[in-house]
Amino acid sequence: MTLAHAQELDRQDPLKSFRQEFIFPDVSSKDGPLYFAGHSLGLMPKKAKDYINEELQAWGQYGVEGHFEGAHPWLPYHENITGSFSRLVGAKESEVVAMNSLTVNLHLMMVSFYRPTKTKYKILIENNTFPSDKYAVDSQSRFHGFDPSTTVVELKPRPNEIHIREEDLIAQIESLGDSLSLVLLGNCNYLSGQCFDFKNVTAAAHKVGALAGFNLAHGAGNLRLELHNWDVDFAVWCSYKYLNSGPGGIAGAFIHEKHLGPQNLPRFEGWWGQNKKNRFKMGPQFEAIPTVEAWQLSNPPIFQLASLRASMELFDQATMKTLREKGDKLTNYFEKLVETELKSEVSIVTPESPNRGSMLCLRFKNSPQKWTQTLRERGVFVDFREPDIIRATPVPLYNSFEDVFKLVQTFKEVIYES
Ligand SMILES: Cc1ncc(COP(=O)(O)O)c(C=O)c1O
Repeated sequence: MTLAHAQELDRQDPLKSFRQEFIFPDVSSKDGPLYFAGHSLGLMPKKAKDYINEELQAWGQYGVEGHFEGAHPWLPYHENITGSFSRLVGAKESEVVAMNSLTVNLHLMMVSFYRPTKTKYKILIENNTFPSDKYAVDSQSRFHGFDPSTTVVELKPRPNEIHIREEDLIAQIESLGDSLSLVLLGNCNYLSGQCFDFKNVTAAAHKVGALAGFNLAHGAGNLRLELHNWDVDFAVWCSYKYLNSGPGGIAGAFIHEKHLGPQNLPRFEGWWGQNKKNRFKMGPQFEAIPTVEAWQLSNPPIFQLASLRASMELFDQATMKTLREKGDKLTNYFEKLVETELKSEVSIVTPESPNRGSMLCLRFKNSPQKWTQTLRERGVFVDFREPDIIRATPVPLYNSFEDVFKLVQTFKEVIYES
Protein backbone atom coordinates (compact mmCIF):
# COMPACT_ATOMS: atom_id res chain seq x y z
CA MET A 1 0.00 0.00 0.00
CA THR A 2 1.74 3.09 -1.32
CA LEU A 3 0.90 6.73 -1.85
CA ALA A 4 0.72 6.04 -5.59
CA HIS A 5 -1.87 3.31 -4.95
CA ALA A 6 -3.95 5.71 -2.79
CA GLN A 7 -3.77 8.32 -5.57
CA GLU A 8 -4.92 5.75 -8.11
CA LEU A 9 -7.91 4.89 -5.89
CA ASP A 10 -8.73 8.61 -5.78
CA ARG A 11 -8.63 8.84 -9.58
CA GLN A 12 -11.25 6.08 -9.75
CA ASP A 13 -13.49 7.73 -7.13
CA PRO A 14 -16.84 8.83 -8.65
CA LEU A 15 -17.28 11.36 -5.81
CA LYS A 16 -13.85 13.00 -6.05
CA SER A 17 -15.17 16.35 -7.28
CA PHE A 18 -17.19 16.90 -4.06
CA ARG A 19 -14.00 17.66 -2.12
CA GLN A 20 -13.83 21.00 -3.97
CA GLU A 21 -17.19 21.97 -2.51
CA PHE A 22 -15.79 22.26 1.04
CA ILE A 23 -13.48 24.60 2.90
CA PHE A 24 -10.71 22.82 4.79
CA PRO A 25 -9.14 24.43 7.89
CA ASP A 26 -6.10 26.53 7.24
CA VAL A 27 -3.01 24.79 8.64
CA SER A 28 0.64 25.24 7.88
CA SER A 29 1.75 21.58 8.05
CA LYS A 30 3.48 20.01 5.04
CA ASP A 31 0.73 17.45 4.37
CA GLY A 32 -1.98 20.08 4.69
CA PRO A 33 -5.03 19.53 6.86
CA LEU A 34 -5.84 15.87 7.49
CA TYR A 35 -9.44 16.40 8.54
CA PHE A 36 -10.91 13.27 10.14
CA ALA A 37 -13.31 14.91 12.59
CA GLY A 38 -16.47 14.89 10.47
CA HIS A 39 -18.13 12.72 13.16
CA SER A 40 -17.85 15.74 15.45
CA LEU A 41 -18.15 18.80 13.21
CA GLY A 42 -18.43 18.45 9.44
CA LEU A 43 -16.54 20.81 7.13
CA MET A 44 -18.12 23.95 5.78
CA PRO A 45 -19.71 23.66 2.33
CA LYS A 46 -18.52 26.63 0.23
CA LYS A 47 -22.12 27.46 -0.64
CA ALA A 48 -23.08 27.78 3.06
CA LYS A 49 -21.66 31.30 3.07
CA ASP A 50 -23.60 32.26 -0.08
CA TYR A 51 -26.85 30.82 1.23
CA ILE A 52 -26.53 32.54 4.62
CA ASN A 53 -25.55 35.76 2.84
CA GLU A 54 -28.67 35.51 0.67
CA GLU A 55 -30.80 35.54 3.80
CA LEU A 56 -28.83 38.41 5.35
CA GLN A 57 -29.39 40.26 2.10
CA ALA A 58 -33.12 39.42 2.21
CA TRP A 59 -33.32 40.64 5.80
CA GLY A 60 -31.70 43.94 4.82
CA GLN A 61 -33.76 44.34 1.67
CA TYR A 62 -37.19 43.21 2.86
CA GLY A 63 -37.17 43.45 6.67
CA VAL A 64 -40.17 41.59 8.06
CA GLU A 65 -41.48 41.02 4.53
CA GLY A 66 -38.61 38.53 4.09
CA HIS A 67 -41.04 35.98 5.50
CA PHE A 68 -42.89 36.21 2.18
CA GLU A 69 -40.47 37.84 -0.29
CA GLY A 70 -37.21 36.92 -1.98
CA ALA A 71 -36.00 33.72 -3.61
CA HIS A 72 -36.55 31.66 -0.45
CA PRO A 73 -39.20 33.20 1.81
CA TRP A 74 -38.67 32.39 5.47
CA LEU A 75 -42.18 31.26 6.34
CA PRO A 76 -41.83 27.93 4.52
CA TYR A 77 -37.98 27.92 4.56
CA HIS A 78 -37.70 24.65 6.53
CA GLU A 79 -39.64 22.93 3.76
CA ASN A 80 -36.54 23.35 1.54
CA ILE A 81 -34.96 20.62 3.67
CA THR A 82 -37.87 18.18 3.83
CA GLY A 83 -37.29 16.36 0.52
CA SER A 84 -33.58 15.96 1.23
CA PHE A 85 -34.21 14.63 4.74
CA SER A 86 -36.75 12.15 3.44
CA ARG A 87 -34.21 10.76 0.95
CA LEU A 88 -31.50 10.83 3.60
CA VAL A 89 -33.29 8.66 6.16
CA GLY A 90 -35.63 6.70 3.87
CA ALA A 91 -38.90 8.30 4.90
CA LYS A 92 -41.97 9.98 3.45
CA GLU A 93 -41.88 13.76 3.40
CA SER A 94 -44.71 13.85 5.93
CA GLU A 95 -42.49 11.92 8.36
CA VAL A 96 -39.46 14.26 8.58
CA VAL A 97 -38.79 17.79 9.71
CA ALA A 98 -35.82 20.04 10.47
CA MET A 99 -36.36 21.66 13.86
CA ASN A 100 -34.72 22.53 17.20
CA SER A 101 -31.60 20.73 18.35
CA LEU A 102 -30.97 17.07 19.00
CA THR A 103 -31.54 16.68 22.74
CA VAL A 104 -34.60 18.94 22.53
CA ASN A 105 -36.05 16.69 19.83
CA LEU A 106 -35.25 13.59 21.86
CA HIS A 107 -37.28 14.99 24.76
CA LEU A 108 -40.13 16.00 22.44
CA MET A 109 -40.24 12.47 21.02
CA MET A 110 -40.21 10.92 24.48
CA VAL A 111 -43.10 13.13 25.55
CA SER A 112 -45.09 11.35 22.85
CA PHE A 113 -43.52 7.91 22.81
CA TYR A 114 -42.49 7.23 26.40
CA ARG A 115 -45.78 7.01 28.26
CA PRO A 116 -45.07 4.61 31.07
CA THR A 117 -47.70 2.80 33.10
CA LYS A 118 -47.30 0.99 36.42
CA THR A 119 -46.49 -2.24 34.61
CA LYS A 120 -44.94 -1.06 31.33
CA TYR A 121 -42.30 1.52 32.16
CA LYS A 122 -38.80 0.34 31.28
CA ILE A 123 -36.46 1.98 28.76
CA LEU A 124 -33.66 -0.11 27.25
CA ILE A 125 -30.48 1.73 26.22
CA GLU A 126 -26.90 0.66 25.50
CA ASN A 127 -24.41 0.95 28.37
CA ASN A 128 -22.09 3.53 26.80
CA THR A 129 -24.84 5.76 25.49
CA PHE A 130 -24.00 9.44 24.91
CA PRO A 131 -24.36 11.26 28.26
CA SER A 132 -27.04 13.66 27.00
CA ASP A 133 -29.21 10.69 25.99
CA LYS A 134 -28.75 9.16 29.45
CA TYR A 135 -29.67 12.45 31.13
CA ALA A 136 -32.71 12.68 28.87
CA VAL A 137 -34.05 9.19 29.65
CA ASP A 138 -33.29 9.50 33.37
CA SER A 139 -35.06 12.85 33.59
CA GLN A 140 -38.04 11.58 31.56
CA SER A 141 -38.31 8.66 33.94
CA ARG A 142 -38.23 10.97 36.98
CA PHE A 143 -40.71 13.31 35.26
CA HIS A 144 -43.19 10.41 35.22
CA GLY A 145 -42.57 9.69 38.90
CA PHE A 146 -40.27 6.71 38.41
CA ASP A 147 -36.80 5.99 39.70
CA PRO A 148 -34.34 5.75 36.77
CA SER A 149 -32.35 3.08 38.59
CA THR A 150 -35.30 0.73 38.11
CA THR A 151 -36.73 2.04 34.83
CA VAL A 152 -33.60 2.58 32.72
CA VAL A 153 -31.97 -0.71 31.76
CA GLU A 154 -28.44 -0.49 30.36
CA LEU A 155 -27.34 -3.37 28.19
CA LYS A 156 -23.63 -4.21 28.48
CA PRO A 157 -21.35 -6.36 26.35
CA ARG A 158 -20.50 -9.80 27.75
CA PRO A 159 -17.46 -9.92 30.06
CA ASN A 160 -14.21 -9.45 28.10
CA GLU A 161 -16.10 -8.45 24.96
CA ILE A 162 -16.17 -4.97 23.46
CA HIS A 163 -19.49 -4.96 21.63
CA ILE A 164 -23.01 -5.79 22.57
CA ARG A 165 -24.07 -8.86 20.62
CA GLU A 166 -27.25 -8.29 18.71
CA GLU A 167 -28.57 -11.65 19.91
CA ASP A 168 -28.11 -10.39 23.51
CA LEU A 169 -29.97 -7.19 22.68
CA ILE A 170 -32.88 -9.14 21.22
CA ALA A 171 -32.84 -11.58 24.17
CA GLN A 172 -32.90 -8.65 26.60
CA ILE A 173 -35.89 -7.12 24.81
CA GLU A 174 -37.68 -10.48 25.00
CA SER A 175 -36.86 -10.98 28.67
CA LEU A 176 -38.07 -7.48 29.61
CA GLY A 177 -41.24 -8.39 27.72
CA ASP A 178 -44.36 -6.63 28.89
CA SER A 179 -42.44 -4.32 31.23
CA LEU A 180 -40.59 -2.73 28.30
CA SER A 181 -41.96 0.59 27.08
CA LEU A 182 -39.18 1.91 24.83
CA VAL A 183 -35.92 0.80 23.19
CA LEU A 184 -33.69 3.80 22.54
CA LEU A 185 -30.35 3.27 20.83
CA GLY A 186 -27.64 5.48 19.39
CA ASN A 187 -27.05 4.10 15.92
CA CYS A 188 -24.05 4.18 15.39
CA ASN A 189 -22.80 4.32 18.95
CA TYR A 190 -20.78 7.50 19.41
CA LEU A 191 -17.89 5.80 21.21
CA SER A 192 -17.51 2.42 19.54
CA GLY A 193 -19.02 3.07 16.11
CA GLN A 194 -21.17 -0.06 16.51
CA CYS A 195 -24.44 -0.15 14.54
CA PHE A 196 -27.35 -2.44 15.19
CA ASP A 197 -29.78 -3.73 12.60
CA PHE A 198 -32.65 -1.24 12.85
CA LYS A 199 -35.18 -3.64 11.39
CA ASN A 200 -34.47 -6.54 13.77
CA VAL A 201 -34.35 -4.33 16.85
CA THR A 202 -37.57 -2.56 15.91
CA ALA A 203 -39.37 -5.83 15.17
CA ALA A 204 -38.22 -7.29 18.50
CA ALA A 205 -39.46 -4.19 20.37
CA HIS A 206 -42.82 -4.31 18.63
CA LYS A 207 -43.19 -8.00 19.41
CA VAL A 208 -43.32 -7.20 23.14
CA GLY A 209 -45.54 -4.17 22.61
CA ALA A 210 -42.71 -1.63 23.05
CA LEU A 211 -41.66 1.19 20.73
CA ALA A 212 -38.27 1.69 19.05
CA GLY A 213 -36.53 5.06 18.71
CA PHE A 214 -33.06 5.85 17.43
CA ASN A 215 -30.62 8.67 17.96
CA LEU A 216 -28.99 9.10 14.56
CA ALA A 217 -26.40 11.71 15.55
CA HIS A 218 -23.83 9.32 14.08
CA GLY A 219 -26.18 7.65 11.62
CA ALA A 220 -27.76 10.41 9.52
CA GLY A 221 -25.53 11.18 6.54
CA ASN A 222 -23.37 8.19 7.45
CA LEU A 223 -25.55 5.09 7.04
CA ARG A 224 -28.07 4.06 4.42
CA LEU A 225 -31.38 4.28 6.20
CA GLU A 226 -34.91 3.03 5.48
CA LEU A 227 -36.69 4.25 8.58
CA HIS A 228 -40.16 4.04 7.08
CA ASN A 229 -39.78 0.51 5.71
CA TRP A 230 -38.08 -0.69 8.87
CA ASP A 231 -41.15 0.46 10.81
CA VAL A 232 -39.05 2.58 13.19
CA ASP A 233 -41.33 4.59 15.48
CA PHE A 234 -39.22 7.73 15.78
CA ALA A 235 -35.70 9.03 15.26
CA VAL A 236 -33.78 12.22 15.89
CA TRP A 237 -30.47 13.49 14.58
CA CYS A 238 -28.21 16.52 14.58
CA SER A 239 -26.85 18.11 11.41
CA TYR A 240 -23.48 19.50 12.45
CA LYS A 241 -21.59 16.20 12.16
CA TYR A 242 -22.01 14.23 8.93
CA LEU A 243 -24.50 16.77 7.59
CA ASN A 244 -22.08 19.74 7.67
CA SER A 245 -24.53 22.44 8.74
CA GLY A 246 -22.09 24.18 11.10
CA PRO A 247 -21.81 24.51 14.87
CA GLY A 248 -25.11 24.15 16.72
CA GLY A 249 -26.89 23.44 13.41
CA ILE A 250 -30.58 22.63 13.34
CA ALA A 251 -31.60 19.04 14.07
CA GLY A 252 -33.96 16.54 12.44
CA ALA A 253 -36.82 14.33 13.53
CA PHE A 254 -38.70 11.39 12.04
CA ILE A 255 -42.03 10.00 13.17
CA HIS A 256 -43.52 7.04 11.36
CA GLU A 257 -46.71 7.92 9.52
CA LYS A 258 -48.68 5.36 11.51
CA HIS A 259 -48.31 7.72 14.51
CA LEU A 260 -49.33 10.84 12.55
CA GLY A 261 -52.70 12.34 11.79
CA PRO A 262 -55.86 12.48 13.78
CA GLN A 263 -54.94 10.11 16.59
CA ASN A 264 -53.68 13.01 18.70
CA LEU A 265 -50.71 11.60 20.48
CA PRO A 266 -49.82 13.60 23.55
CA ARG A 267 -47.16 16.11 22.60
CA PHE A 268 -45.79 19.48 23.61
CA GLU A 269 -47.21 22.08 21.24
CA GLY A 270 -46.32 25.52 19.90
CA TRP A 271 -47.58 27.83 17.19
CA TRP A 272 -45.30 26.42 14.48
CA GLY A 273 -47.11 23.10 14.73
CA GLN A 274 -50.45 24.82 14.14
CA ASN A 275 -52.29 24.22 10.88
CA LYS A 276 -50.59 26.59 8.41
CA LYS A 277 -53.85 27.97 7.03
CA ASN A 278 -54.93 29.17 10.46
CA ARG A 279 -51.63 29.91 12.15
CA PHE A 280 -51.80 33.65 11.61
CA LYS A 281 -55.43 33.86 12.67
CA MET A 282 -53.83 33.64 16.12
CA GLY A 283 -56.69 31.63 17.56
CA PRO A 284 -56.47 29.98 20.98
CA GLN A 285 -57.18 26.42 19.78
CA PHE A 286 -54.32 24.24 18.52
CA GLU A 287 -55.14 22.40 15.34
CA ALA A 288 -52.22 20.14 14.46
CA ILE A 289 -50.55 20.00 11.06
CA PRO A 290 -51.27 16.41 9.99
CA THR A 291 -47.55 15.61 9.59
CA VAL A 292 -44.50 15.49 11.85
CA GLU A 293 -44.48 19.30 11.51
CA ALA A 294 -47.10 19.26 14.29
CA TRP A 295 -44.16 18.70 16.66
CA GLN A 296 -42.56 22.02 15.67
CA LEU A 297 -42.69 24.58 18.46
CA SER A 298 -41.08 27.79 17.25
CA ASN A 299 -40.29 29.53 14.00
CA PRO A 300 -36.90 28.06 13.01
CA PRO A 301 -33.45 29.72 12.73
CA ILE A 302 -33.19 30.64 9.05
CA PHE A 303 -29.39 31.05 8.91
CA GLN A 304 -28.95 27.52 10.25
CA LEU A 305 -31.43 26.18 7.74
CA ALA A 306 -29.52 28.04 5.00
CA SER A 307 -26.20 26.34 5.78
CA LEU A 308 -27.97 22.99 6.02
CA ARG A 309 -29.60 23.61 2.62
CA ALA A 310 -26.14 24.06 1.08
CA SER A 311 -25.02 20.72 2.47
CA MET A 312 -28.21 18.80 1.68
CA GLU A 313 -27.91 19.80 -1.97
CA LEU A 314 -24.59 17.96 -2.04
CA PHE A 315 -26.12 14.88 -0.41
CA ASP A 316 -28.86 14.87 -3.03
CA GLN A 317 -26.31 15.10 -5.83
CA ALA A 318 -24.02 12.43 -4.38
CA THR A 319 -26.80 10.11 -3.04
CA MET A 320 -26.45 8.05 0.14
CA LYS A 321 -26.02 4.87 -1.89
CA THR A 322 -22.84 6.12 -3.57
CA LEU A 323 -21.63 7.83 -0.40
CA ARG A 324 -21.97 4.63 1.64
CA GLU A 325 -20.20 2.63 -1.09
CA LYS A 326 -17.26 5.02 -1.02
CA GLY A 327 -17.47 5.25 2.79
CA ASP A 328 -17.06 1.47 3.04
CA LYS A 329 -14.09 1.49 0.67
CA LEU A 330 -12.37 4.33 2.53
CA THR A 331 -12.95 2.85 5.98
CA ASN A 332 -11.90 -0.66 4.90
CA TYR A 333 -8.74 0.85 3.42
CA PHE A 334 -8.13 2.78 6.66
CA GLU A 335 -8.67 -0.41 8.67
CA LYS A 336 -6.16 -2.38 6.57
CA LEU A 337 -3.54 0.33 6.89
CA VAL A 338 -3.97 0.51 10.67
CA GLU A 339 -3.71 -3.28 10.93
CA THR A 340 -0.54 -3.44 8.87
CA GLU A 341 1.26 -0.22 9.86
CA LEU A 342 0.25 0.36 13.50
CA LYS A 343 -0.44 -3.19 14.62
CA SER A 344 1.78 -3.25 17.72
CA GLU A 345 0.34 -0.02 19.17
CA VAL A 346 -3.25 0.27 18.03
CA SER A 347 -6.31 -1.96 18.00
CA ILE A 348 -9.61 -1.19 16.29
CA VAL A 349 -12.61 -1.01 18.60
CA THR A 350 -15.23 -0.51 15.88
CA PRO A 351 -16.88 -3.67 14.51
CA GLU A 352 -16.39 -4.77 10.94
CA SER A 353 -18.61 -3.70 8.07
CA PRO A 354 -21.67 -3.80 7.84
CA ASN A 355 -22.04 -3.11 11.58
CA ARG A 356 -20.45 0.32 11.26
CA GLY A 357 -20.41 3.49 9.21
CA SER A 358 -17.33 5.51 8.32
CA MET A 359 -15.86 6.16 11.78
CA LEU A 360 -13.09 4.00 13.26
CA CYS A 361 -12.41 4.13 16.98
CA LEU A 362 -8.79 3.28 17.64
CA ARG A 363 -7.57 2.06 21.02
CA PHE A 364 -3.95 2.91 21.77
CA LYS A 365 -1.73 0.79 23.98
CA ASN A 366 -0.25 3.89 25.49
CA SER A 367 -2.54 6.81 26.17
CA PRO A 368 -2.82 8.77 22.92
CA GLN A 369 -3.50 12.01 24.78
CA LYS A 370 0.20 12.85 24.89
CA TRP A 371 0.25 12.81 21.08
CA THR A 372 -2.73 15.02 20.45
CA GLN A 373 -0.70 18.25 20.47
CA THR A 374 1.90 16.81 18.07
CA LEU A 375 -0.84 15.49 15.82
CA ARG A 376 -2.47 18.92 15.74
CA GLU A 377 0.84 20.55 14.85
CA ARG A 378 1.07 18.07 11.97
CA GLY A 379 -2.34 19.22 10.70
CA VAL A 380 -4.29 16.18 11.95
CA PHE A 381 -7.90 16.64 13.11
CA VAL A 382 -9.16 13.64 15.10
CA ASP A 383 -10.58 13.49 18.60
CA PHE A 384 -9.54 11.89 21.80
CA ARG A 385 -11.92 10.16 24.23
CA GLU A 386 -10.79 9.17 27.73
CA PRO A 387 -8.90 7.05 28.51
CA ASP A 388 -7.35 5.61 25.34
CA ILE A 389 -9.54 6.12 22.26
CA ILE A 390 -8.97 8.24 19.17
CA ARG A 391 -11.94 8.58 16.83
CA ALA A 392 -11.16 9.22 13.17
CA THR A 393 -13.58 9.35 10.27
CA PRO A 394 -12.82 9.36 6.57
CA VAL A 395 -15.89 11.20 5.26
CA PRO A 396 -16.83 10.08 1.74
CA LEU A 397 -18.02 13.55 0.68
CA TYR A 398 -14.64 15.19 1.19
CA ASN A 399 -11.92 12.78 2.30
CA SER A 400 -9.63 10.99 -0.12
CA PHE A 401 -7.63 7.76 -0.03
CA GLU A 402 -4.54 9.96 -0.06
CA ASP A 403 -5.78 11.65 3.15
CA VAL A 404 -6.15 8.22 4.79
CA PHE A 405 -2.70 7.12 3.63
CA LYS A 406 -1.12 10.30 5.00
CA LEU A 407 -3.04 10.05 8.29
CA VAL A 408 -1.71 6.57 9.01
CA GLN A 409 1.82 7.61 8.00
CA THR A 410 1.56 10.58 10.36
CA PHE A 411 0.31 8.36 13.22
CA LYS A 412 3.22 6.03 12.53
CA GLU A 413 5.78 8.80 12.61
CA VAL A 414 4.32 10.32 15.76
CA ILE A 415 3.95 7.02 17.64
CA TYR A 416 7.14 5.25 16.68
CA GLU A 417 9.46 8.22 16.46
CA SER A 418 8.43 9.98 19.66
C1 LIG B 1 -25.15 10.52 20.25
C2 LIG B 1 -25.34 11.95 20.65
N1 LIG B 1 -26.43 12.30 21.35
C3 LIG B 1 -26.63 13.58 21.74
C4 LIG B 1 -25.72 14.57 21.43
C5 LIG B 1 -25.99 15.97 21.92
O1 LIG B 1 -26.32 16.80 20.90
P1 LIG B 1 -26.98 18.27 21.07
O2 LIG B 1 -26.00 19.09 21.85
O3 LIG B 1 -27.08 18.75 19.65
O4 LIG B 1 -28.28 18.11 21.75
C6 LIG B 1 -24.58 14.25 20.68
C7 LIG B 1 -23.59 15.29 20.36
O5 LIG B 1 -22.48 15.06 19.95
C8 LIG B 1 -24.38 12.90 20.29
O6 LIG B 1 -23.30 12.53 19.60
